[in-house]
Amino acid sequence: MNIVIDSLYKTFGSATALENINLQFEGGEFITVLGSSGCGKTTLLHLLAGLTTPTKGAIYIDGEQKDRPGADRVVVFQQPGLFPWLSVEENIEFGLSLHSGTKASRRKASSDILPIIGLEGFASHKPYELSGGMQQRVAIARALVMKPKVLLMDEPFGALDAQTRASMQSFLVSLWDQLHCTIVFITHDIDEAIFLGTRLIVLTARPGRVALDIPIELERPRSAEVAFDPHFLDLKKRAMSILAH
Ligand SMILES: Nc1ncnc2c1ncn2[C@@H]1O[C@H](COP(=O)(O)OP(=O)(O)O)[C@@H](O)[C@H]1O
Ligand SMILES: [Mg+2]
Repeated sequence: MNIVIDSLYKTFGSATALENINLQFEGGEFITVLGSSGCGKTTLLHLLAGLTTPTKGAIYIDGEQKDRPGADRVVVFQQPGLFPWLSVEENIEFGLSLHSGTKASRRKASSDILPIIGLEGFASHKPYELSGGMQQRVAIARALVMKPKVLLMDEPFGALDAQTRASMQSFLVSLWDQLHCTIVFITHDIDEAIFLGTRLIVLTARPGRVALDIPIELERPRSAEVAFDPHFLDLKKRAMSILAH
């Protein structure tokens, strides 16, 4: 699988949100896109998801131009957006029910993923019975059962308290270590971007341009101590100097 973002521009009226974005992603990468608020991160994610169209340029997945949403790209937003009247397993199966498969195969998909997201035994709970972090894990599971080519995440832990956020970051790292799915994860948090990714992309302030595109060469699995690694600190310094401008 590969994703090509070719000379991408996005303007809103006279304001340019993204300017000449050129990137290439390979299957199995965990790409973190870092940028300050208003630099065009969500716009980039929406373009990848096909939720909006570029003003100029194009996005290709495996050579095929993408300009509308598809089951090959699933988004996890800041708010879990679960259906409150459906149980955990029904929420997870919801997207599948719009596509193909039998009820039994959908039930198998949800029961297979529940232990992976640490929610074994919560299948018939309703979202209001879960903590914020658990709800967001259900949202991630709902996306993963679609078996997308790429999982798009827009500041998915931004609404969580600091402690839950840290545990969700560790959860996502171990999930990726198990599944090696392709993830594009957007954040304005430097530590989060470096802790999670295999590759760091830093955007400039508006209009967003690619200022840095660099592999994150930190051992996996990662623990919180990785934040003291010299490579982590070097990346952090470089990212900070870009965000400061
Ligand atoms: N639908 C829209 N109409 C007009 N301006 C928009 C729209 N969406 C985003 N913008 C503008 O584009 C810029 C980038 O927005 P966004 O991608 O949401 O940034 P980020 O997610 O990095 O905070 C901002 O200045 C924002 O005001
Ligand atoms: Mg945003």
